[in-house]
Amino acid sequence: MLAGQFGDASRKVVIEEFLSGIEVSVFVITDGISYKILPEAKDYKRIGEADTGLNTGGMGAISPVPFADAVFMEKVEKQIIQPTISGLQKENIEYNGFIFFGLISVGKNPFVIEYNVRMGDPETEAVMLRIKSDFVDLLEGAARGTLEDKTVEIDERAAAAVMLVSGGYPGKYENGKIITGFENVTESIVFHAGTTTVNNQVVTAGGRVIAVSSYGKDMKSALLTSYENAKTIQFDKKYYRKDLGFDL
Ligand code: GLY
Repeated sequence: MLAGQFGDASRKVVIEEFLSGIEVSVFVITDGISYKILPEAKDYKRIGEADTGLNTGGMGAISPVPFADAVFMEKVEKQIIQPTISGLQKENIEYNGFIFFGLISVGKNPFVIEYNVRMGDPETEAVMLRIKSDFVDLLEGAARGTLEDKTVEIDERAAAAVMLVSGGYPGKYENGKIITGFENVTESIVFHAGTTTVNNQVVTAGGRVIAVSSYGKDMKSALLTSYENAKTIQFDKKYYRKDLGFDL
């Protein structure tokens, strides 16, 4: 700061309360006036088990989040979602789309850590499984201002996404590793993230390579199915966290 290394960005410092708690991602779709709450999720950002090591783009996600119960979600809606939507209106900000509330639960009370104007990754690979309604219809409602007439039907089952990453990620890693075993995947949905094809073979092309998403009667069984299928997809130096949900 003294050397002015970050220019204007380091001229002012804001000191905020340190919030110690557990995070949850809450999503709404809005046409700017009305909104619908989508299934919440929890992602796992650290590369190492027990939330150790460097931050990544996300090593997996689960939905629903057990501590985000009806009482907690009512606080989220009243204290955070509604003031956000009415704040947009008061400030004449026309906004149609997703709002991602990155929240932290401190003593069972929700606090906002960050807003994003998009869905989350890898939360999406769990959240989408739980939306039973016609998703295009919801998007149309958001775009055309008719969201109030729409309903979001949510699948009661749990969903889990396990991210397979390249060895070395989020540091240096190699691309071009041949990926095999897709034909042995059962009961999971495979989302390609960092992949491409070379000579008709699927190869790695990024740090986060594939998300393996599954349903289950609860978080544990959804994770178990994703882990079973994570084993069947093979590529050199594949890595994934085997402890998702450990903190719940
Ligand atoms: N998973 C966090 C994000 O998408 O920002």
